[in-house]
Amino acid sequence: MCGIIGYLGERPALPILMEGLKRLEYRGYDSAGIALQTLQGLEVVKEKGKIAFLEEALGDNHSAATFGIAHTRWATHGPPNRENAHPHLDGSGEVALVHNGIIENFNSLKRFLEDQGIEFVTETDTEVLAHLISFNYKGDLEEAVQRSLTQVEGTYGIAVIHAAHPGEMVGARNGSPMVVGIGEKELFLASDVAAILAHTRQVIYLDDREMVTFKNGEFNTKTIQNEEVDKEIQRITWNLDSIEKGGYPHFMLKEIFEQPTTIANAFRGRLIEDEGLAKLGGLSENMEDLQQVERLVFLACGTSWHAGLIGEYMIEELARIPVEVEYASEFRYRNPVLSPRTVAWAISQSGETVDTLEALREGQRKGARALGIVNSVGSTIARESEGGVYIHAGPEIGVASTKAFTSQVTVLAILTLLLGRMRGMSSRLGKKMVQELQAIPDKVQRILEMDDQIREIAEVYAGVDNFLYLGRGINYPVALEGALKLKEISYVHAEGYPAAEMKHGPIALIDENMPVVFVSPLGGTNRKILGNMEEVKARGGKIIAVVNEDDVNASALADHTIRIPETVDFLSPLLTVIPLQLLAYHIAVLRGCNVDQPRNLAKSVTVE
Ligand code: F6R
Repeated sequence: MCGIIGYLGERPALPILMEGLKRLEYRGYDSAGIALQTLQGLEVVKEKGKIAFLEEALGDNHSAATFGIAHTRWATHGPPNRENAHPHLDGSGEVALVHNGIIENFNSLKRFLEDQGIEFVTETDTEVLAHLISFNYKGDLEEAVQRSLTQVEGTYGIAVIHAAHPGEMVGARNGSPMVVGIGEKELFLASDVAAILAHTRQVIYLDDREMVTFKNGEFNTKTIQNEEVDKEIQRITWNLDSIEKGGYPHFMLKEIFEQPTTIANAFRGRLIEDEGLAKLGGLSENMEDLQQVERLVFLACGTSWHAGLIGEYMIEELARIPVEVEYASEFRYRNPVLSPRTVAWAISQSGETVDTLEALREGQRKGARALGIVNSVGSTIARESEGGVYIHAGPEIGVASTKAFTSQVTVLAILTLLLGRMRGMSSRLGKKMVQELQAIPDKVQRILEMDDQIREIAEVYAGVDNFLYLGRGINYPVALEGALKLKEISYVHAEGYPAAEMKHGPIALIDENMPVVFVSPLGGTNRKILGNMEEVKARGGKIIAVVNEDDVNASALADHTIRIPETVDFLSPLLTVIPLQLLAYHIAVLRGCNVDQPRNLAKSVTVE
């Protein structure tokens, strides 16, 4: 989604802002712009499309300005064009503003400002805020921003500068992340740590309805109600390598290949093999609640929702606790029945997905305990949860989630062990779970070594426009995930279904032009799925089967067989999903798609 970086220091701001924008590219955007404070006033350059076009528009600009703001926009109000790109200016060109989020009452504010004679030049909600700040400006920029923010409804992460205030920048947040970076004689303001990590590791996360002002080389934080707040300085522990490609052509491929390590990182230090137990430090304060819990409600979107579905299979089967998995966007507007013995558990890679965050808050308002399974350390969901588990996957830059998914599933398996052992699971089964989990990274590695074979299958089907993915039991969510991966990065229509549902409708689609991917490891419902394969075969459909190494029956029916190592049924999604990630990746590359930044998508969805 949109990205913000602001710089104030002694070095030329332009290269720092441009580099920051490039680090934010992964979030997804459709235009970009920059505002620099020069001796002549504000210099603003904006361009539609990729940052490379903005660079072109800047030409050989070697501005010595040491102060500025920049933005990547993901269109919400008004099409992606140069006019609607940020920064937005007030009528006099003195106030420049970059904004993530949505000003919900922009229409009424716009009418009010138009009545005062103010003219608008864009269709954006953001321009309204630039004019409002200018309208409220009486010589004090911080005060003008503060006053304006009390008049807006909606979400925002903003950075504002004013031509008459060189060296002063005001930032604020409500529902859209903002982080302050503290360097040596320089300050940064960004929507994402990745934008500033090359320069500093010392950061402060703003909370909702807080603002920060940079002035005279120092910063000051307060609420938008003007109460001073003391913020804790935190240190980022991950390094720059983790947000660079490391020799891979795409972040997505790098992240797929990182999975033996990231899965191991998700369980490292959390398993006690001798006793068949799990320990999760982030839940130490919540053990009593978990002992007494009557129901878990996982709240998530997209890939994280698929991980939640896998968690449901695991936890109900092995820990015998009822689980519901809710689309966060639906949950937040329903009137769900919750009690203090319900745990509302948000699952989110970014920790900033607004629907998931709001669903968690709604759960908490209705009396449930609120916990999180999150990747981004210090993110809003992580901070607002009463406890939770980090998945430790490291930064995920590719827009399509891969390593975060397997790390979420790993954490859910550990959670199953923890809850199961509280509720009668034998230590023998516990030990078996630990051993099987510890063996997963090597098995994932073996599947990754089949990359060439999977690319060859992709070559056969790269021109096809429809795919069906079928799985049963705990591999039904994997079928959903495989279909989601393919559609989001290759723009091929793909649907995931529980295999047995095929005959209730989707079977009508099957012909020789419809490849069907079966996710069918041994165990569980494997034998049942053979019947579904027969049905596809009888109608001329092409079968790509993800099966275990010694599954002769499925191999006999399939046109292409991807043979993966065996594991226990409940951990099989950690293996079956890997070939599906690779298949989607190769099809997207063969179709010439922008794998890391697919059209219309954003890495972290911070608007409704
Ligand atoms: C798919 C994908 C999205 C996210 C979803 C939730 O590859 O990345 O479907 O899974 O937007 O995001 P988080 O997990 O950050 O809440």
